[in-house]
Amino acid sequence: MENFTFHNPTRIHFGRGQIAKLDRELPAKARVLLLAGGGSIRQNGVYDQVRTALGNRPVIEFFGVEANPDYDTLMKAVEICRREAVDWILAVGGGSVLDGAKFVAAATPFKGDPWDLLAKGEKVREALPLGAVLTLPATGSEANSAAVISRRARHEKLAFLSPLLFPRFSILDPESTFSLPARQVANGIGDAFCHVLEQYLTFPVNAAIQDRFAESILRVLIEEGPKTLADPKDYAARANLVWAATWALNTAIGVGVPQDWATHMIGHELTALHGLDHARTLAVVLPSLLQVQRDGKREKLLQYAARVWDLRDGGEDARIDAAIAATRKFYESLGIGTHLADYGVPAGVAAEVARQLEARGAIKLGERGDITPAVVEKILRLAA
Ligand code: NZQ
Ligand code: ZN
Repeated sequence: MENFTFHNPTRIHFGRGQIAKLDRELPAKARVLLLAGGGSIRQNGVYDQVRTALGNRPVIEFFGVEANPDYDTLMKAVEICRREAVDWILAVGGGSVLDGAKFVAAATPFKGDPWDLLAKGEKVREALPLGAVLTLPATGSEANSAAVISRRARHEKLAFLSPLLFPRFSILDPESTFSLPARQVANGIGDAFCHVLEQYLTFPVNAAIQDRFAESILRVLIEEGPKTLADPKDYAARANLVWAATWALNTAIGVGVPQDWATHMIGHELTALHGLDHARTLAVVLPSLLQVQRDGKREKLLQYAARVWDLRDGGEDARIDAAIAATRKFYESLGIGTHLADYGVPAGVAAEVARQLEARGAIKLGERGDITPAVVEKILRLAA
């Protein structure tokens, strides 16, 4: 195991009725910006619960954060925060709203061009405090310090992170996710699954806790995911999905181990170029990436085959083939296509994505830095 420092400061309130805790979490005199998406929270009762809990605090509402939150939209929220001296941000929604809130929190006090936080990796030195009410289990954004922001005008989608961006608290009430359409539930399962693999399916470093935790999360997603899709109001199954998705990316399983993240890097380019849902890009890239990178990932692929899919018989290559096939089948069983053609994306995108990554200097992806632009192109050609 490599050295690490682990600190996750986000306080989690989990379960039914927990939105009421907002009243305790936010200072009585807080000037709050409530950030939300396209309006789902008005239909499922979450908005009413939030407003009740906020009581008489001055609240400015900002609706309209898109899926894959857009820089230009978020900058309007930044202007409001500056003008109105907002001192707390409350994100109410899915990963996009949470990520958007992180950007607004960092950009509001930032002196330079806020896009540089993403494009140039400028350090976040100051950020407004933020809290979250999560309505979509998927990204782990409720308990991590990362955010992914799109800039549609430039076909870009970039990530940034800072310890200052962990939410101070997050409220996870599984019932507030009951209204999700099946497509978003499936996306959430698929995203969380890939988050675990990005941190687990690399090469062994004798990190038994991280490995066993990762394998448990994967197995819970495989077992509970289909249950919650079949019966969206099954509280027990949904609660397990929500908690699994948080654990998939609250950074605990990623400490002290090599991490990959190439599937995500390539996937973000597919979203930037063709607007695919985040999880769908992962479903397209992941099986092909595992195929192309199978030698470097050999030992962990065999461990994954045995411990996650119970594949223990036959030769090594056959077991690896079966594990990759099981991964693809799992995504497809959720209703998520695993080929570019499923989304009408032409094979030519392979060269385009490789070029785009190269232009930003992302030329050594993966846990060994061996995913060059040529390898990216090969992976996407295989995913046609
Ligand atoms: O906008 P509203 O009306 O709220 O509708 C949303 C949106 O259309 C809807 N929705 C959310 N909760 C709902 C609901 N509909 C009904 N009932 C509810 N309870 O779902 C749609 C998708 O929401 P979105 O927030 O975009 O989904 P998700 O949580 O999957 O977030 C995806 C974003 O997170 C980024 C992705 O790149 C993408 O931009 N990621 C963030 C990460 C992080 N911060 O650590 C890591 C991830 O890998 C990922 O990259
Ligand atoms: Zn993801």
